[in-house]
Amino acid sequence: MENKADIGLIGLGVMGSNLALNIAEKGHRVAVFNRTTSRTDAFYDQAGSLKDRVVPCHTIEALADAIRPPRPVIVMVQAGKAVDEQIALLRGALSRNDIIIDAGNANFRDTMRRFAELKDSGLTFIGMGVSGGEEGARHGPSIMVGGTEESWRRVEDVLTAISAKYEGEPCAAWLGTDGAGHFVKTIHNGIEYADMQMIAEIYGILRDGLSLSAKEIAPVFAGWNRGRLNSYLIEITATVLAADDPKTGSPVVDIILDRAGQKGTGKWSVIEAQTLGVPATAIEAAVAARVLSAMKGERMAAEAVFGRLSTQLAGDRKALLADLELALFAGKIAAYAQGFAVMDAASKEFGWNLPMPTIAKIWRAGCIIRSQFLGRIAEAFDSADTATNLLMAPAFVEMMKEAHPSLRRIVARAAEAGLPVPALSSALAYFDSYRQGRGTSNLIQAQRDFFGAHGFERLDAEGAFHGPWGSGG
Ligand code: 6PG
Repeated sequence: MENKADIGLIGLGVMGSNLALNIAEKGHRVAVFNRTTSRTDAFYDQAGSLKDRVVPCHTIEALADAIRPPRPVIVMVQAGKAVDEQIALLRGALSRNDIIIDAGNANFRDTMRRFAELKDSGLTFIGMGVSGGEEGARHGPSIMVGGTEESWRRVEDVLTAISAKYEGEPCAAWLGTDGAGHFVKTIHNGIEYADMQMIAEIYGILRDGLSLSAKEIAPVFAGWNRGRLNSYLIEITATVLAADDPKTGSPVVDIILDRAGQKGTGKWSVIEAQTLGVPATAIEAAVAARVLSAMKGERMAAEAVFGRLSTQLAGDRKALLADLELALFAGKIAAYAQGFAVMDAASKEFGWNLPMPTIAKIWRAGCIIRSQFLGRIAEAFDSADTATNLLMAPAFVEMMKEAHPSLRRIVARAAEAGLPVPALSSALAYFDSYRQGRGTSNLIQAQRDFFGAHGFERLDAEGAFHGPWGSGG
């Protein structure tokens, strides 16, 4: 029994291989299987000193046999059909109480379906969000688990061992049943999109509004990384901007085509936000900006027709840089407030009871959006006076009061200069709408009533009313 593996892993692509090595390195025995047998053998051959804790298997049955029951098996294959195929194969090889763990970027609705489909089979299912890219998988990712609490207890040791640590605390947690882990990972990615887009918008202002070179912009981000914006994404932005292309010797960022890819998690987060009725406008703008970026041909044609505004941003450089830093910070606050609001609504809708402080905590290290800022969010959620929206948490009220005037100035100046800042301006519009006690939808209600007799409420009386438009609609 001692020689049995603690866990199995199927799919030895880069992420799967790195996770398996991470598991072995943390002292756990891992049985591995890949559909292409030669890859399993190559992986084992290259495992070096970790070979002792790796059990290469050439069949699913051998894999099942190598693991200590109840057997947890991580499936790390491409999201979608391949996951269902693996589950079908595993159903034949596993037995009662064994656990299939999907560690890919699955749509949480698929995870809920798979969880339900396996319910009567005696097997259980875990949907596990893993963030941190290849490096994270190898040395410590952030791990978001959805499934039964019992199945989590079986894998807790291994998962906390391989996860990133923030001041000693593991960045792995059980967040709720069925789709909870994959849902939280999806929103993580939505926020990741917003963070990246807002950083790109600030880069655009520095490049096109101040005519700074990549080499000059790099230290600006490096400096910000030492302050309130300290985060992995700001850090790598500085590194990327300073890197040269070996072929041409020019900054690599200057030779990269301005057409962004996306695999779908950002889009899913927006779809779910809309379905839940939660405004996530900064995330929406970030997804739309990627789509627009992909329309390179059309953009070139439109530039030829409309021309380009080439207004430079004048004025005190130091003050402008300080404004840019604070504008990015304010935009970030709004985007995170939106992301957490979406999770709050989903938690109620699906009965997950998502632990918000825990989510903020396990995002402090290991994942792509890791930052000092998430520590502040964790503190806000931990404190007694938890607000409905992060924007209303006392510490965030203070931060936003300090930062929003800069966001306002930057969005206004960018608009005048013809520099697109869709995510930053959406963040600002969200904030301004959110804090406007008397909005303008009284007019929308009047219009609705005029053309469709939909009725409206009054400020001075209870009930439903109609306007004095007669049959004019
Ligand atoms: C992570 C990332 C990762 C994601 C890539 C690419 O948390 O490690 O979010 O899961 O797949 O960043 O995503 P896009 O191709 O959609 O940009």
